[in-house]
Amino acid sequence: MLLIWIAKLWVSFVMENIEKIREQFPITRNRVFMNHAAQSPLPKVVADAVCKCIDEFSNFGHTSIEWHNGGKPFFAKLIGAKTEEIALVENTSIGMNIAANVLRYPQGAKIVTTDLEYPSVVYPWLRKRLGVEVLLIV
Ligand SMILES: Cc1ncc(COP(=O)(O)O)c(C=O)c1O
Repeated sequence: MLLIWIAKLWVSFVMENIEKIREQFPITRNRVFMNHAAQSPLPKVVADAVCKCIDEFSNFGHTSIEWHNGGKPFFAKLIGAKTEEIALVENTSIGMNIAANVLRYPQGAKIVTTDLEYPSVVYPWLRKRLGVEVLLIV
């Protein structure tokens, strides 16, 4: 019930702000844009931040954006964690593999996922040695 309420709230937010959201994706002026996480045009806010970072670094050798330590302090602040709790890995799949293999599971542990999930996010838990049961919601 809570999930349905959150989904409705999200849809209503998106519909009320659809023009502002589309403005963040200049490509929508020229193409039908269907996002694919692996390869997609950047939202304007991200492209602007990357350009600003490159420009400042080219001109001053450093940036006003907090990129030291790979941006860990910035990300830690964003999610309310400590900097030393943040680790950077190559991509989501590797991060999920690490998480799946370092977690300690109680006896009878179950991982619940769906048949709509991206495969590389599910594979780490299929490893028999982990001893977890993967429940697929279809
Ligand atoms: C929905 C979704 N989840 C996870 C991944 C895996 O991400 P990564 O390429 O960072 O391992 C992808 C990659 O395209 C994806 O589209």
